[in-house]
Amino acid sequence: MSSARFYGVSIFLLFTSSIMVTHAGNFYQDFDLTWGDHRAKILNGGQMLTLSLDKASGSGFKSKKEYLFGRIDMQLKLVAGNSAGTVTAYYLSSEGPTHDEIDFEFLGNVTGDPYILHTNVFTQGKGNREQQFYLWFDPTRNFHTYSIIWNLQRIIFLVDNIPIREFQNAEVMGVPFPKNQPMRIYSSLWNADDWATRGGLVKADWTKAPFTAYYRNFNVNTRSSTSSLVDSAWETQGLDPMSRRKLRWVQKYYMVYNYCSDSKRFPQGFPPECRHSRFL
Ligand SMILES: *[C@@H]1O[C@H](CO)[C@@H](O)[C@H](O)[C@H]1NC(C)=O
Repeated sequence: MSSARFYGVSIFLLFTSSIMVTHAGNFYQDFDLTWGDHRAKILNGGQMLTLSLDKASGSGFKSKKEYLFGRIDMQLKLVAGNSAGTVTAYYLSSEGPTHDEIDFEFLGNVTGDPYILHTNVFTQGKGNREQQFYLWFDPTRNFHTYSIIWNLQRIIFLVDNIPIREFQNAEVMGVPFPKNQPMRIYSSLWNADDWATRGGLVKADWTKAPFTAYYRNFNVNTRSSTSSLVDSAWETQGLDPMSRRKLRWVQKYYMVYNYCSDSKRFPQGFPPECRHSRFL
């Protein structure tokens, strides 16, 4: 890695974090609360959003705008305590039967047991590309930043700026890549105790309801946003050797499931994008 490039990336990170402080997105401006009535709330003059779930219903929100490529950051603090059976989904999606989708889903657990971060990529309506991870921190104690970098070459999932997954554009191998359908940002908190925690063995404990997840510091860089040179780093951003080392560290020590190594599931051979790289 050239030091100039590393320097550039550091400056970029400094710069985006200062943007987040000075121009933190406003939830009133950027999002609509879509379901769950009073269970979804915007607070602190638009600086904070909360979703909650009780026995009767979950709740959700979506972005007013659609985005085609970009870097999207959100800070989340997940349901604390006994969150078994709850799922907090945070994702980008277009609409229709051949939609594209980029997913983070946080599967809750009983107090003291780890959340699973479930990820998936849908292209042209087809998913089945799950990768799951434990996190290297307790996601319920503090806010952490979950980001998606989406450009023409790849999609990178990041947690606190550490890449956990890369989905490369493998169109040359006949794998569709999301590049024509603009996506909205969605999030919802819902009851999935039929499958989420230890495969559905552990049910939600409704005596602990309502369950609440917190959101803040939404930040988006897209082509349409007034972009300076530093702002548009995401457009060509890939993984430099240091980021790739971090990705390997996460995949080695924290990965729970990878569809690309589930040979039982693909007896006829792995999907073509799995051959692209050892570290998808
Ligand atoms: C919950 O904790 C159990 C026990 O440590 C673990 O096997 C499981 O992967 C954890 N996460 C979920 C979402 O089930």
